[in-house]
Amino acid sequence: MNTERPDLNRIAAEVNACQRCPLARTRTHAVPGEGPHDVEIMLIGEGPGYHEDQQGRPFVGKSGKFLEQLLSSINLTREQVFIANVIKCRPPNNRDPLPMEMDACTPYLQQQIELINPLLIVTLGRFSMGQFISADARITRIHGKPLRQEGRIILPLFHPAAALRNPQWQKAMYEDAAQIPALTEAVRQIRAQHAEEVDDDLEQLSLF
Ligand code: URA
Repeated sequence: MNTERPDLNRIAAEVNACQRCPLARTRTHAVPGEGPHDVEIMLIGEGPGYHEDQQGRPFVGKSGKFLEQLLSSINLTREQVFIANVIKCRPPNNRDPLPMEMDACTPYLQQQIELINPLLIVTLGRFSMGQFISADARITRIHGKPLRQEGRIILPLFHPAAALRNPQWQKAMYEDAAQIPALTEAVRQIRAQHAEEVDDDLEQLSLF
């Protein structure tokens, strides 16, 4: 039995060798995600596209450029956050991930979240949102509305690719992202003061 504590590198190695679903046969590279283990913020997208599949890195295409601009607008770089996806291998022709693919893959994301224990999770797009918030929720209604969950805050944002296709959503994305520093600081302070009762204390924040 392997009793070693899983770390991000080990999870990445498992993802790179994963054969849990048929996407293993069509991928060029799996895309485990990247970033330091001690970050406060995780950004979670849907799944790799063409460029990510080619390079084995998340958000390296046009969506990635937009994401980097968004981060820069709040004085962050991609090296200061952990960037991951719900599914780690590219679906052929960028089709939506299938439920069985997500079921097979999300344990990796859950392990990454457990290890990093971020203060804030920013979901990008509806598939990522659906991992944390009811799948019936409509992203057009709840984007930018933070909610508390398990001692942290989840902030749903549009997907960068959707914002590139619908330029009228780009302003919303910048406005939604502008909340990230204050939300992170709020959870940081609460965790520092009351490590034990984070969820109770989060109740005091006036969220939506
Ligand atoms: N879109 C995603 O959801 N993830 C990526 O890594 C790239 C594009």
